[in-house]
Amino acid sequence: MKNNLILIFALSLLAFSSINTAIAGDAAAGKEKSALCVACHGADGNGTDPSYPRLAGQHQDYLAKALHDYKAGERKNPIMAGMVAALNDDDIENLAAYYASLSGLQDLSTYK
Ligand code: HEC
Repeated sequence: MKNNLILIFALSLLAFSSINTAIAGDAAAGKEKSALCVACHGADGNGTDPSYPRLAGQHQDYLAKALHDYKAGERKNPIMAGMVAALNDDDIENLAAYYASLSGLQDLSTYK
């Protein structure tokens, strides 16, 4: 009985940690990588040029999917294809965590 409880506890920890890693991502490491992205997407993910989408405050899973899709060629854009070529899966998760942690602008009047 005691062993069963330990087993259940261990399995639930395992389940929790695998869910956790699926959405993990190190925002601090992402911030370092984001130096590559600032020119177009802005220092805080709120670039003002409408040619470049705002990334700040976007959902983390959306950002990660977009980057994976560019890398896999499922979403086609020559600029972003070049940007993601050098990113590995960890970089993508970290960048997604970083941009998701930033505040998107509420005031859209600066965005023309
Ligand atoms: C030279 C300019 C440029 C740079 C640098 C750049 N991007 Fe982009 N990014 C774009 C453009 C243009 C688009 C829109 C492409 C499209 O229509 O799919 C885009 C789109 C995206 C999207 C999809 C956003 C959405 O709302 O669907 C993400 C995520 C993204 N970029 C992340 C990054 C990251 C992370 C970096 C740095 C590693 C980066 N970008 C660097 C120009 C750039």
